[in-house]
Amino acid sequence: MKKFTMFALAAAIAIPVFSVDVVAEEKAMTEEKAMADAKAIKKMVKRGKKVAIKQCFACHDITENKQIKVGPPLWGIYGSKPGQVEGYQYSEAHLSKADSIVWDDATLDAYVQDPKALIPGNKMVYPMPGLPVMKEKHRKNLIEFLKTLKDPE
Ligand code: HEC
Repeated sequence: MKKFTMFALAAAIAIPVFSVDVVAEEKAMTEEKAMADAKAIKKMVKRGKKVAIKQCFACHDITENKQIKVGPPLWGIYGSKPGQVEGYQYSEAHLSKADSIVWDDATLDAYVQDPKALIPGNKMVYPMPGLPVMKEKHRKNLIEFLKTLKDPE
């Protein structure tokens, strides 16, 4: 066989093997990352639930029972608009934001730090007067937990 033919043959065999390897490796890395991400989120949700029980549960039902307490139940809150719980007496101020706010990471983060800064005149008395604003890492965990309060798809 001529040298060139040998080379071409070797390349024809080696290139597909090489690219299959790279694709498999990339796929394994993506799967590994997805698993690590899922694990990290699970941890955040677990910590966030503790925060919610300590800081929010006195006024908000955080279960699928959706009981009305001092505040409205928080089931389904993530991705919804302010003032959607039927039968709960929201303040006028809160209802006035139904068309301009969606509860997402940014708005929930702002609201739990200072509800009256986001919605002037709303009636959520939190953070308790004299107590500090929740730390950022606790807020992040809390919001991950709030995302899980929804019916299975
Ligand atoms: C002292 C009681 C109290 C505590 C504690 C409290 N909230 Fe509230 N929350 C309220 C009240 C009352 C409202 C209704 C506000 C209005 O109508 O003006 C409300 C409203 C809300 C809303 C808007 C709900 C909707 O349907 O638009 C969210 C979100 C919320 N609270 C999250 C939280 C989170 C998260 C915590 C814990 C970090 C918390 N709250 C702690 C009393 C409380």
